[in-house]
Amino acid sequence: MALVDVKKPDFAAGKCLDIAEATPVYGRDVRVIGAKTYDVLEGADFVINTAGVPRSMRPDGTFPSREELLAINLKITDMVAAGIKKYAPDAFVISIANPLDAIVYRLFKKGGFKPNKIMGMAGVLDSARYKYFVAQAAGVSVENIEAVVLGGHGDTMVPVRSACRVYGLPVEQFVTKSKLAKIEQRTRGAGGEVVSLLGSGSAFVSPAVSALEMVEAIAFDKKKIVPVAAYLQGEYSVKNLFVGVPVVLGKDGIEKIIKVKLTPEERKALRVSINAVKKTCAEVDKAKDGAPAPGSARLFARSIQFAFYRTFYTKRA
Ligand SMILES: NC(=O)c1ccc[n+]([C@@H]2O[C@H](COP(=O)([O-])OP(=O)(O)OC[C@H]3O[C@@H](n4cnc5c(N)ncnc54)[C@H](O)[C@@H]3O)[C@@H](O)[C@H]2O)c1
Repeated sequence: MALVDVKKPDFAAGKCLDIAEATPVYGRDVRVIGAKTYDVLEGADFVINTAGVPRSMRPDGTFPSREELLAINLKITDMVAAGIKKYAPDAFVISIANPLDAIVYRLFKKGGFKPNKIMGMAGVLDSARYKYFVAQAAGVSVENIEAVVLGGHGDTMVPVRSACRVYGLPVEQFVTKSKLAKIEQRTRGAGGEVVSLLGSGSAFVSPAVSALEMVEAIAFDKKKIVPVAAYLQGEYSVKNLFVGVPVVLGKDGIEKIIKVKLTPEERKALRVSINAVKKTCAEVDKAKDGAPAPGSARLFARSIQFAFYRTFYTKRA
């Protein structure tokens, strides 16, 4: 496993040493390499992209505008795309960095990856959050909840109430409509809720295990249906955009896109979300190129720790 990050003095190497030193405790022999350069990705089967800068305060007390932040993150993404293209062009690429829909779109455009091999991680996490809130409200195990969130990864995402089931039964049998409306609103803002509690940084465990869910579905050819930001070419009446929809994940990556039957209100909400993604991607198309030679970026960052944790823990248990 490899981790790449530009952070000085050698953040990735430090992280990897920390992980490597835990391997005797887990009882697994795994080589973990951290570097500031992309060459360590040579031949990788999976690349998970978390490179980006958050919207934090500048020394003068001001915040960068959304446009400024997007421009910075696109430059980083262009470096990442060039790095993967050079060292791991056949890898499955799972992008986590925000703004999710714009970054995965840019990676695809710059990296020239096949549409079945590149996807954004948002739906697994957004659906998990929806499931968690429903389980809490219904007073039942999270294992009894089925739920899906569609659309872009932002305020317009669509938690699909009509597809939400508690032990196979309609969710409204367990949770009132007004509570569900609150839960769906909380789901849309769930990432921000964690960020505001932390003060700095963003959700860590839940995005990592969500990305792992996707990796495992592909690596073990599970044919598992999970929501991912997938490149649509006519499905859901969307062309050439990444939008969160359920897909079958197996050895070929995205093997099939699943159509969800929606109520008229849900269809309308999904259209609003798709239009928001379209608007951001139009901004991406207008943005200048920003790819210096492949040097560094943070890939496989947080998830790596949880990949280890899950692998070791599962084997030991
Ligand atoms: N999709 C999701 O559901 C989800 C969930 C959580 C976080 N995120 C996103 O994931 C991204 C990472 O979040 P984080 O909390 O780990 O942030 P972080 O700031 O801890 O990590 C980002 C890393 O990117 C690196 N970086 C910055 N500029 C770089 C450059 N030019 N080249 C290479 N690397 C560079 C930094 O060194 C840093 O270590 C953010 O965009 C965040 O919004 C998405």
